[in-house]
Amino acid sequence: VLDTNHESEPEPQDGDSRRALSRRAFIGTVGSAAFGAGLLAGGLTLTSSDSPSLTDTAYRNTIEPFYSAGPQGGIITPTQSSTYFASFDLATAKRREVRELLRAWSNAGANLAGGSTAEPLSTKALSVERDSMEALDIGPARLTLTFGFGAGLFEKDGEDRYGLRSRRPTALVDLPKFPNDQLIAQKTGGDLTIQACADDPQVAFHAVRQLARLGDGFATMRWAQAGFNETPATVGVPRNLMGFKDGIINPENNQLDKFVWVGSEGPGWMRGGTYLVARRIRISLEHWDSKSLSVQEQVIGRQKVSGAPLGRSAEMDPLDLEAKDSDGNLIIPIDAHVRLSSAQANHGQMILRRGFAYNDGMSDFDERWPPWQQAMLYDAGLLFIAYQRDPRRGFIPIFQNLAENDSLGQFTTQTGSVIVAVPRAAKNPCHFVGEELLA
Ligand code: HEM
Repeated sequence: VLDTNHESEPEPQDGDSRRALSRRAFIGTVGSAAFGAGLLAGGLTLTSSDSPSLTDTAYRNTIEPFYSAGPQGGIITPTQSSTYFASFDLATAKRREVRELLRAWSNAGANLAGGSTAEPLSTKALSVERDSMEALDIGPARLTLTFGFGAGLFEKDGEDRYGLRSRRPTALVDLPKFPNDQLIAQKTGGDLTIQACADDPQVAFHAVRQLARLGDGFATMRWAQAGFNETPATVGVPRNLMGFKDGIINPENNQLDKFVWVGSEGPGWMRGGTYLVARRIRISLEHWDSKSLSVQEQVIGRQKVSGAPLGRSAEMDPLDLEAKDSDGNLIIPIDAHVRLSSAQANHGQMILRRGFAYNDGMSDFDERWPPWQQAMLYDAGLLFIAYQRDPRRGFIPIFQNLAENDSLGQFTTQTGSVIVAVPRAAKNPCHFVGEELLA
C-alpha cells in the first residue's frame, strides 16, 4: 500500500513531514484514527446489543490501550489466549520509508487495538474493502501489538543502509549459536517484528495481516508463528503442551525496572523499552508422552498437577535447591529445568517469560533424539518469548546453561529464533513507535 511510485521524490526535510504524508493517503487517513475509548466511533458500531456473540463473551469487548507514556502493550499485559508473531525483512533502501512504515503501523495498530478496522470505516477516501474484515464482529479482544527492531534495521550485510549503524544499542547483540540449535533460516531473524496478542486468534491474525498489507513493498514477511494459551484469567497459570504450568516464576512488579526495562545505560529512545528474544521450540511430544509422570516431574523439577516444586506442596512455594531426600539425593535433580533456569543458578538474573504453545500439525522429522526416530511427528511446541533489560545478562547466559545441561533438552529442538529491541510505546496519536530513533 505504501505506493512505490515515488522513487524520484526528494527526501523530505525536517518539518516537511506533512508533505510526505499527504503523498500517502493511507498514512494520513489512518493517522486520524480515534484514540482510546473513542476508537469505535470511527464508523464501526460494535455494541453488545447488536451482537449476541459479544454479550456472552464480554472479554472480547475489552480494549488494551495502544498509546502509553510507558512500555508498549503485550509485555506486562496479562497474557492473552492467542498470538500471531510475525517477523519482517525491510525491502526499502530509504530511511524515510521505514519511518512512514512505522508511522502507518502505529496508526493502524491503534485502530485495530480499539476494535476497528485498520483504516477507519467512516473514511470515504479509503475503500473499506482494503481491510479484509474477518475480525469485524469480534471486538477488540484485548489486542496488543508490540513492535520490535532487529539488527537489520541498523546494519545489514555490513551495509549501513539507513544511517543507523552507530545507533544500534550495544545490548542488541546477535545471539550466539547454542549447543544443539537446529535453527531453520526461514524461521529465524528479521529486521522488524510484530507480536500480536489477543483473546481471539482471528483478531491477532487479522491485525498482522493488515499491517503486512500496509507495508506491502516496504517490508516482506519472513516468517510467522501462531500460538495459543489457556486463558490465564480462567485457569491461573496456563499449562504448556507438556502439561506443566508454565509461567509460575516471573519478575514481580517491583523487579521490572531491574530485569525488564532499559534504564540509563541504554540510548534515550530505548529507555523504558526492553529486548525480546523469541525461540520456536519444537517439543517431541511423542517421546514426552512415553515417559512416566515421575520422570516428567524430575525433568522439570516441579509437580505436574499442582505446579509445586518437588518436595513442596504449593505452586508458589520457593524452590529449595539444597533439599535432599533420606538417601541424600537432591530432591530437585541437578539437571532439572527449573534448577538450571532459576535466578539462584544464574547470578540472580531473571527474564520475563510470556510464551505461547504452538501447533503446526505434523511434519516429517529426522529426530535428534531418540536417534532412531524417523517418522511423521507433531510439529508442536512452545513459542518461547522472553523480555529482558539486557539479553547479555538475561536470555543468553541462562539459555547457555540450559542448552548445555538441561534434561528438558532431550525433548526439545530449537528451530527458530529472533532478537529485537522493543522501544517504548507511542505516547499518543501524534507519535509512532520508534519515532525518536527514526526521526
Ligand atoms: C519447550 C521449552 C520449554 C518448556 C516446555 C519450559 C517449561 C517450563 C516450566 C514448566 C517451568 C516451571 C514453571 C515456571 O516457573 O514457570 C519453567 C520455568 C522456567 N523456564 Fe522454561 N521451558 C522451556 C524453555 C525455556 C527456555 C528456552 C528458557 C530460557 C532461558 C526457559 C527459562 C525458564 C525460567 C527462567 C524459568 C523459571 C525458573 C525458576 O525461577 O523457577 N525455559 N519452564
